Amino acid sequence: MAPRIRSNLRANAMATATCNFCLPEGYHLMTDEIIERGWIHDRNGNRREIVGSVTKEEAAILAGIIYKNGCRRSVETGVANGISTLAIAQAIAANGGRHYGIDPEQSSTHDYAAVSLLSEHCLNGCFSLMEGPAHIMMPQLIAPEELFDFAFIDGMHTFHYKLVDYFFADKLLRIGGWLIFHDLLLPSVKKLYRFIQTQGKYRTWNTPQLEPPMAYKLRHIAASLIKGKPLPTFWPNGFSNLLVLEKISDAERPWNHFNDF
Ligand SMILES: C[S@@+](CC[C@H](N)C(=O)[O-])C[C@H]1O[C@@H](n2cnc3c(N)ncnc32)[C@H](O)[C@@H]1O
Repeated sequence: MAPRIRSNLRANAMATATCNFCLPEGYHLMTDEIIERGWIHDRNGNRREIVGSVTKEEAAILAGIIYKNGCRRSVETGVANGISTLAIAQAIAANGGRHYGIDPEQSSTHDYAAVSLLSEHCLNGCFSLMEGPAHIMMPQLIAPEELFDFAFIDGMHTFHYKLVDYFFADKLLRIGGWLIFHDLLLPSVKKLYRFIQTQGKYRTWNTPQLEPPMAYKLRHIAASLIKGKPLPTFWPNGFSNLLVLEKISDAERPWNHFNDF
């Protein structure tokens, strides 16, 4: 094997690890029954169907990372009905920490559904809602003496908003902190992941337990073809919809650095 290929393979092996973030036997994650029943209440007691939230398995990974690493300070973009928020807040509360949830539409579109859900589960005390878009709210959290242990990005899904969320999450996180993206199946998130790889600041953790069955993968690829989209060939993390990154460096690239991605 050519030395360059060998050294690339070695670098990739170092850059990727396989996750062991399972919650311990008997850990009761509150999101399990909420996701199973498929609805929550808003502030006025009206039922709202849960759509677009993390799955039970993804919620368990979020909580598992916080549990296993003793995270105490966390931030999330895209709160919506508060499913991911509930999983994160439960794990953060157990560590005696605080969770910040950013969403511009909690009082309008979502009619305080997430706030009601947290209050139903007695988790309001460790949660701060920041109502507004992430690009306005995240800079307000920057304080070098109070870095974050965990950031979950699930707000606006276009590439440029995701890039801005990444930029600020990176400023907020300590080395050893965790940066998680939902919707890794979206081209915008996959593109951003390619960019993040050019920066050398994050190690990728694979989550084999989230890998969907072959039939799902084939359906997904068929749907792309039917919609006339270019056939995607880049499926990081075994086609799962979550991207788990650990911050390993704060070093910035030189002022004129650019690697295509
Ligand atoms: C897919 S939902 C989040 C689902 C949630 N994380 C869960 O698992 O239950 C996306 C949310 O992003 C919010 N959003 C839209 N633009 C945003 C922005 N610029 N900053 C932060 N959140 C945004 C929307 O209001 C919506 O609630």
